[in-house]
Amino acid sequence: MQVKQPRFFEIDKENKDANLQELSHGLFSPQATLSPKYFYDEMGSVLFDAITLLPEYYPTRTELEIFVDHASEIHARFPKQATWVDLGAGNCQKAVQLFTHTMPATYVAVDISVDYLSHNLKDLQAKFAGINVVGVAMDFSNSLTFPEELQKQLTAEPLLALYLGSSLGNFNPTEALHFLQRVASLCKMGQPGSGLIIGIDLVKDPSTLERAYADDLGVTAAFNLNVLRRVNSLLGSDFDVRDWQHSARFNVPESRVEMHLQAKRKLAVNWHGQQRLFKQDETIHTENSYKWTIEKFTTQLHTSGFSNIRHWTDEKSHYALFWAS
Ligand code: AVJ
Repeated sequence: MQVKQPRFFEIDKENKDANLQELSHGLFSPQATLSPKYFYDEMGSVLFDAITLLPEYYPTRTELEIFVDHASEIHARFPKQATWVDLGAGNCQKAVQLFTHTMPATYVAVDISVDYLSHNLKDLQAKFAGINVVGVAMDFSNSLTFPEELQKQLTAEPLLALYLGSSLGNFNPTEALHFLQRVASLCKMGQPGSGLIIGIDLVKDPSTLERAYADDLGVTAAFNLNVLRRVNSLLGSDFDVRDWQHSARFNVPESRVEMHLQAKRKLAVNWHGQQRLFKQDETIHTENSYKWTIEKFTTQLHTSGFSNIRHWTDEKSHYALFWAS
């Protein structure tokens, strides 16, 4: 039997030199920083999947709960016979859960992690032989330009853009605006009925937020500390994980949970003849996770070029799903 294979496009190949430059630059900044994109090596991806199972980490399960509780209203908005563009698809699970209500004609999974995508998409294509499965390896944080061959596909049918899991939280409001503007243009390329479904984590009491990012089992701490091993392997640095501790704080004026790694003692980190000294308690800023209000995010969508906006939340208003077209 002929087995259908997913099509695959690789736009952004991992640029090792650019990564090394970015890592060094971040480590030498007065407030040392590391981009959250470095969390997701094999261990990091597994630890993140474990985070989504923690009782303290409500976003993943609350997003699913909203999809279930408001299924008919949400799916009524989805275009039929559409091309789905799943931004940051990862293991594709969040989108596949929706297939029981609405089947796409074409499913385009976009993610930076090439290997992870290609592996998952082969399984997916085997399971759903009736869908056209396409993989795109691309860093969409700076541009959303698809290869010409695929561009045609995107204009031929209504398009449903998906950005689930509150991943938008890693962008500051300005970056988020630019990203949403690109998504709005993408939706305008599609046939009538095109739109965006996006999951957004909402502002709430700081203790609930901080517990979600500093769980009792220490899974998030392990996820955060693991980035140091990743940096050692990419940069050839000599970070010792035992010298650092996890911290997560809700920064109220900036409306974001900040994750940091804090030096337990005065120490030096070395790589390729370069050195950064850290005082005791000095930190490396590893992630921002911005939290929005319904009002601010609605305005953000309008400003980005969407006109038809709806949202659904859970009972506690911890999380929201937005439809925008
Ligand atoms: C994958 C960016 C949505 O910000 O909640 C989870 C990552 N970091 N716990 C988030 C994360 C620590 C997550 N996002």
